[in-house]
Amino acid sequence: MSTAIDFDRYDRIRPIRWTGQALELLDQRKLPFVVEYVTCADSDAVAEAIHALTVRGAPAIGIAAAWGVVLASRTVEATDGKDAAAKLEPAMQHLNAARPTAVNLAWALARMRRVLATAGTDWREVLERDVQAIADEDLAANRRMGALGAALIEPGSGVLTHCNTGSLATAGFGTALGVIRAGVAEGRIDQVFAGETRPWLQGARLTVWELQQDGISPTLIADSAASHLMKTGDVQWVIVGADRICANGDTANKIGTYQLAIAARHHGLKFMVVAPSSTVDMDTPSGDAIHIEERDPGELFAVGGVRTAAEEIGAWNPVFDVTPHELIDAIVTERGVIERPDEAAMRAAFGS
Ligand code: MRU
Repeated sequence: MSTAIDFDRYDRIRPIRWTGQALELLDQRKLPFVVEYVTCADSDAVAEAIHALTVRGAPAIGIAAAWGVVLASRTVEATDGKDAAAKLEPAMQHLNAARPTAVNLAWALARMRRVLATAGTDWREVLERDVQAIADEDLAANRRMGALGAALIEPGSGVLTHCNTGSLATAGFGTALGVIRAGVAEGRIDQVFAGETRPWLQGARLTVWELQQDGISPTLIADSAASHLMKTGDVQWVIVGADRICANGDTANKIGTYQLAIAARHHGLKFMVVAPSSTVDMDTPSGDAIHIEERDPGELFAVGGVRTAAEEIGAWNPVFDVTPHELIDAIVTERGVIERPDEAAMRAAFGS
């Protein structure tokens, strides 16, 4: 079963716009009720926007950071790419420190360094062309993953997703949400459930809104309703994105993903991770070595700016967790599908 997907219908949102002078970011802290772009005129503003979740989602923060390097390049004079790379290093370090878990950020900056290493006097144009290429490649990868992932899903299935992995989190179409878009377009997916994703509510504020733009009607659930939903038999696949996939297949993703994988296995459901190869980090052997971002505990004290927790209490706010590879049925990248991932399968697909 395969139908050509109408990408104009199933992919309408762009979170990152390059004007030629500045970077415009769709402010994802304000969605869905305020649709507003913020303008970043320098690389420090981009780093701050990444840290503040104005732009979020692993591939999107990599692309935004790369545009941040282009903005930084406007402030340095250099004879060639190598000279420029040395002068841009402080800005790149600052961008890299904005968020630690999503490897796409470090991956994009490493690619900038590589491109500059061989660039000549036209290093600024070379840099800018490569950033556009990163975005174009991401969009193409997502469309490819959509087809590969959807092919694993039996017609008439229900799926559950977590966080936001759509156009908002990428250059367009999305990773896990790209598979869901393709699955709906092909008639494989009848029902889409989205977990609300405390504390930033990426599921409730972003995923549900984004799918609504495409005419897909998802059903929102509280994160804590997931196991109960699985027991009903209405869901056959849990489909999520990734912030870092290790050399053994262990996968970091939004906090709450791990418990979904455990519950999926308990209920006999399949668990799919969808991410471009820029999210694969063969230098990190296993999930134990991943730096898990912990954010301000204050993010747990309020909902929509209204305090819900008592004053002067403690809180712990890790915003990612690691799903061990044993709980993953398929990792889908643009290079293909890895079923039952482990170190041997990852090395066969991605080398060392
Ligand atoms: O904190 P966020 O919103 O940046 O977290 C995003 C996620 O965890 C996504 O699932 C992941 O980045 C994949 S996005 C295609």
